[in-house]
Amino acid sequence: MKKTGTQTIETERLVLRRFVMEDAPDMYRNWASDPEVTRYLTWPAHTGPEITSMILKEWIPQYEQGDFFNWAIIYKENSEAIGNISVVKVQESIDAADIGYCLGRAYWGRGIMPEALKAVIDWLFEEAGMNRVAATHDRNNPKSGKVMQKAGMQYEGVLRQAGRNNQGICDEVWYSILRSEWEKKGR
Ligand SMILES: CC(C)(COP(=O)(O)OP(=O)(O)OC[C@H]1O[C@@H](n2cnc3c(N)ncnc32)[C@H](O)[C@@H]1OP(=O)(O)O)[C@@H](O)C(=O)NCCC(=O)NCCS
Repeated sequence: MKKTGTQTIETERLVLRRFVMEDAPDMYRNWASDPEVTRYLTWPAHTGPEITSMILKEWIPQYEQGDFFNWAIIYKENSEAIGNISVVKVQESIDAADIGYCLGRAYWGRGIMPEALKAVIDWLFEEAGMNRVAATHDRNNPKSGKVMQKAGMQYEGVLRQAGRNNQGICDEVWYSILRSEWEKKGR
């Protein structure tokens, strides 16, 4: 893998870019404070905007690291930060990245996350030199699996009671795409 760090990616409707402190109000309002968004996530909904600011203060210095990949999803139509997509785990020895994502509820059901995930997958193969890109979702959150399918990932299997999120211990459904598959489908 190449330690390129987080770089801006543009799609038809979105700009994926580094977070800045000024994103805190959008992030808090659009997704981080919403327990419906965090239902199947590992972190609790933020109970005040100061929590969001604290998280951004932790993230932003990490952009100095070449293996920190964390994008704010900006909706071009209104220029708001509406979600987050990031590499939650890198395994340098096998050039592998696991991706996580979340989107403000007002923006669900418009194919926004599939558009973001597809672009991030392309970028991780093309620019960051990954060989494997994977993602997992709680078995009870199948619409996240839909996103993975729409982005061209392949179902791998279920790790039973292998994770914990805000709902407790959960079964992890895994999807991935390999460089060889990505090259074959001509992106
Ligand atoms: C999962 C998530 C990323 C989906 O993103 P999205 O941009 O809405 O994805 P899509 O528009 O492709 O919709 C995916 C599925 O959600 C369902 N959906 C659509 N609109 C919906 C709505 N208004 N409310 C609830 N579900 C809806 C549909 O089943 C859809 O599949 P379909 O297009 O085949 O019918 C988003 O719902 C989200 O951020 N959820 C909370 C955080 C989360 O669970 N992250 C994933 C952790 S693994």
